[in-house]
Amino acid sequence: MTDSSEGQIRGKFITFEGGEGSGKSTQVSRLAERLKDAGYAVVETREPGGSPKAEAIRKFILAGEAEGKGPRAEAMLFAAARMDHVDRKIRPALETGKWVVCDRFMDSTRVYQGMHVDGSTIDLLEKMAVGDCRPELTVLLDISAKEGLDRAIKRSRGARRDRFEKEDVSVHEARREAFLKLAESQPERFVVLDATKFPRALELEIWDACQKRFNLS
Ligand code: TYD
Repeated sequence: MTDSSEGQIRGKFITFEGGEGSGKSTQVSRLAERLKDAGYAVVETREPGGSPKAEAIRKFILAGEAEGKGPRAEAMLFAAARMDHVDRKIRPALETGKWVVCDRFMDSTRVYQGMHVDGSTIDLLEKMAVGDCRPELTVLLDISAKEGLDRAIKRSRGARRDRFEKEDVSVHEARREAFLKLAESQPERFVVLDATKFPRALELEIWDACQKRFNLS
C-alpha cells in the first residue's frame, strides 16, 4: 500500500488491455521498442506476474488452483500479485523516471473478476494494490470474442488452455462489452483500437496515440 515514504512518480505508465488473442503482447513489445528508439528508458512487463512472487501467483491462478475458492479469492490473489509487482518493479521504475509498458493491469481485474465480485470490493483491492501508480494511458485492443479466441487457439497450437481461455464464448463477449464500457467511462485515459487491423497499422496508431497523450515530438 502507498505510504508517505514513497517517492515521486516521474516516469510514464502505459497499460494494454483486451480479450484473449487481441495481440497485446506483440504491441507492448513494439511500443517499448519505439520508446527506446526515441531515447527513453523503458521497462516492459506483464500481469498477472512481472515480479518473482507475482509470477508464482500467476502460475497458481492460471492452473486453476484457486478456481474452487471462488471469484473473490481469485480477485484477492490477482491484487496480491499486483501489489508485489507495483512495489518491486513498477513504482521503482517510475520513481527513477523510466517508462513502464505493461501487458494487462488493474482493468483486467475490474473486467474479469468484476463480473462476479461487487464493485466496492474491486475498488478497495485496486486502491490497496495500485495506490497512486495508475496508468496515464491505457490502450484497449478490441476484438470480437470469436475472432480473438480463434487467434488464441491457433497461437497456442493445441497447448492446454488456461483457466480463463477455456470459458464459453459468451463469457468472452461479455468481457469485451465490459472493457468497452470501462473505456467509455474514462475517455481521458483509454484509447480503443480495432485489433483486427494488421499489426503494423496498429503499431502506428498506438505510437500516434502515445505521442499525442505525452506530447512527444
Ligand atoms: P495470459 O496468458 O497473460 O493472457 P493474455 O495473453 O490474454 O493476456 O493470462 C492471463 C489471464 O488472466 C487472462 O485470461 C486474463 C486473466 N486475468 C484476470 O482474470 N484478472 C487480472 O487481473 C489479470 C491481470 C488477468
